[in-house]
Amino acid sequence: MKFFLDTADIGEIRELADTGLLDGVTTNPSLIAKSGRNIFEVVAEICDAVDGPVSAEVAATDFETMLAEGQKLAGIADNIAVKVPLTPAGLKTCRVLSQAGTMVNVTLCFSANQAILAAKAGASFISPFVGRLDDIAADGMNLIAEICEIYENYDDFDTEVLVASVRSPMHITEAAKMGAHVATVPASVLWSLFKHPLTDKGLDAFLTDWKKTGQSIL
Ligand code: G3P
Repeated sequence: MKFFLDTADIGEIRELADTGLLDGVTTNPSLIAKSGRNIFEVVAEICDAVDGPVSAEVAATDFETMLAEGQKLAGIADNIAVKVPLTPAGLKTCRVLSQAGTMVNVTLCFSANQAILAAKAGASFISPFVGRLDDIAADGMNLIAEICEIYENYDDFDTEVLVASVRSPMHITEAAKMGAHVATVPASVLWSLFKHPLTDKGLDAFLTDWKKTGQSIL
């Protein structure tokens, strides 16, 4: 399973990239706004800091402008995945960009049928938003299960399931059990995956006992 970081904060990205466990980054217009930075500058820095796909989202809603924006964003670096919304214009843009060899991440997916459309449009990634479904008392993880099952049924669907709007470590465990390819996660949730109180307690005990031996490995 791949882990992407869902942020436009270059500090957070560099810190996690240092662990060697980061496979990519996703941004969206809200995250760019939160960073307070110019989209081209910040996305270029992110593309430099990570080897994997970096999603940068278009802001237009009509096909022609969306395509022009997508082409411009794709010019930032080779590892850009252009993010388009799950609308007819978005999927039309997805098809054209995918055919030209650009990775496309189709975002704002809330149903299995939308995910089928994205796969047919040649998306590299489909982004179902689990947290936002949970927020309205729907079952976000059930959508992931449905999409994984459907994509498995068709050899010609090459789209990766990118679980988005992740709110907790349990979303990641569940997504991994279902075979989702990627989870894009806020930094706080990703760091929390390392933690277990028994790991901390066990390490304390080992270090205390090791001190008693008076030995040194180096
Ligand atoms: O980038 C898309 C997604 O992960 C958004 O998450 O927390 O704003 O619902 P959230």
